[in-house]
Amino acid sequence: MPVIRLDSIGSTSEYLKQDWQDFEDMTFVVADSQSSGHGRYDRVWESQPGKNLLFSLIIKNPLLLNKAQRLSALTAVCIRRCLTYFGIKHVSIKWPNDIYIKDKKVCGILLESQLPNYVIIGVGINVNQRKFECPTATSVCKHRILPTDLALFTDIVLRQLESDLIILQYRDNSIEDYRANNYLKGKDIEYEINNQKHFGKVLDINENNELIVINELGVSALNSGEVKLIHK
Ligand code: BTN
Repeated sequence: MPVIRLDSIGSTSEYLKQDWQDFEDMTFVVADSQSSGHGRYDRVWESQPGKNLLFSLIIKNPLLLNKAQRLSALTAVCIRRCLTYFGIKHVSIKWPNDIYIKDKKVCGILLESQLPNYVIIGVGINVNQRKFECPTATSVCKHRILPTDLALFTDIVLRQLESDLIILQYRDNSIEDYRANNYLKGKDIEYEINNQKHFGKVLDINENNELIVINELGVSALNSGEVKLIHK
């Protein structure tokens, strides 16, 4: 797998997007720092230089692009598993694809696509940063006694993700793992569709990565493109 390592860049995802034709399928870009890292809803992704894992990956393989709706769940499941390899407990996936340790976010995942050409998966994992402006953010180092070697951690995450994506071409093992580690399962949530607020209790997720919610209107399947969670 080609891996491009950069000291600093605007955004690893924008870097791949700009010259997407030039990059081989499954090229990873890792950066020590980003000056305009972004997340969902154009939120800023803050990260102290050299402390965390920031990377993006471009996928062009048609077999995987045909399964684009599974890529975000698979990435979340893969990263959750990597965190558990490092001895971290209570790691779950907050739909659609945030990784939580207990009740705080340790990782954000952003998928951007231009089908049928590419999907870019951008991942930010807080590893050795101790202080955050955001009160609901956490990091790996706050949950491990031993210090975390960022180079080793990076290597494990990149290799595991590559291998899980290769397997995804033929079969998908991620759904049961996601179901078993669904942070929102059983919780009451508030969400917004077309500027209208709704409430519901989360039952599960389905194979299209939709959140299954029950309320007075019955059972509905929420699509992450249409729904914004207001809070858990
Ligand atoms: C989110 O939680 O909303 C997703 C955050 C994704 C952040 C990562 S950091 C590496 C890559 N480059 C970006 O600009 N964003 C993603």
